[in-house]
Amino acid sequence: MNILTDFADNILTARISRPKALNALNAEVFDELDELIQKLYRDDQIRGLILTGDGDKAFVAGADIKELAVMSQQQALKMAKRGQSLFKKIENCPKPVIAAVNGFALGGGCELAMACHIRLASENAKFGQPEINLGIIPGYGGTQRLTQLVGRGKTLELLLTADQISAQEAKALGLVNQVVATREELINLATSMMKKIVSKSPVAIANIIKSVNDGFAFEIAGYAAEAELFAACAATEDFKEGTSAFIEKRPPVFKGI
Ligand code: CAA
Repeated sequence: MNILTDFADNILTARISRPKALNALNAEVFDELDELIQKLYRDDQIRGLILTGDGDKAFVAGADIKELAVMSQQQALKMAKRGQSLFKKIENCPKPVIAAVNGFALGGGCELAMACHIRLASENAKFGQPEINLGIIPGYGGTQRLTQLVGRGKTLELLLTADQISAQEAKALGLVNQVVATREELINLATSMMKKIVSKSPVAIANIIKSVNDGFAFEIAGYAAEAELFAACAATEDFKEGTSAFIEKRPPVFKGI
């Protein structure tokens, strides 16, 4: 099991737990996340989901780079489409989903947090989309949702530089709703906020989420482009170099081919 859950007061709290890889999303974690979201949709006892990372160091440090490194272009396209579809299910879920971000939320981890309805963070949280360091682009909706949350200029800066930002910077940009000092305070805040939300009408909750999301429904083309271009990058020499460099713990040398 890579996702640990607690259930109390109709609220499901799920901790992604793959400590050796900073909770990176490999195929197994991804399947478990998919099952978790299906359960959230169908189980009437669950009124809301809090997603967090196990331990103090990471929320999720991205898609698993060792798995990415051996992908063909076709596999990369399939992976991006599957990730986008699951993250859309989270975004469109009629029940509230809060990301409680403790530590690194990078690449697919930042994208997962952005697919949730509300993001809370502890002081040690770090956000970023460092895919360009691997010679690839975000593939799980990051190019679209980061733009929606922080605007086009800052998105381009973050995607092109791969810079990581602190919880406080993320809050100043509107990427994070609230920041607290410790992991314990983070879970307490997420739980009390979720309790407040789920005390309200489930119909009104679902309709608010749908109304807000429908305002962005025209942006479908951006997601399709992202998946195709993610896959196109996976076919390059630079992608092989970027992923090999990460695995070999050395700086990459890109050639533009
Ligand atoms: N995939 C696989 N393994 C990962 C990982 C990832 N995304 N992130 C970290 N790990 C592993 C490391 O390889 C390392 O394993 P070993 O002990 O076996 O060497 C272990 O987790 C601990 O990591 P570090 O030793 O690197 O820890 P650190 O504190 O020095 O650095 C970090 C932490 C800055 C997060 C660094 O691990 C890092 O840069 N990770 C990669 C982040 C990244 O590029 N994420 C994007 C992935 S691509 C993506 O997500 C595409 C998409 O949009 C779908």
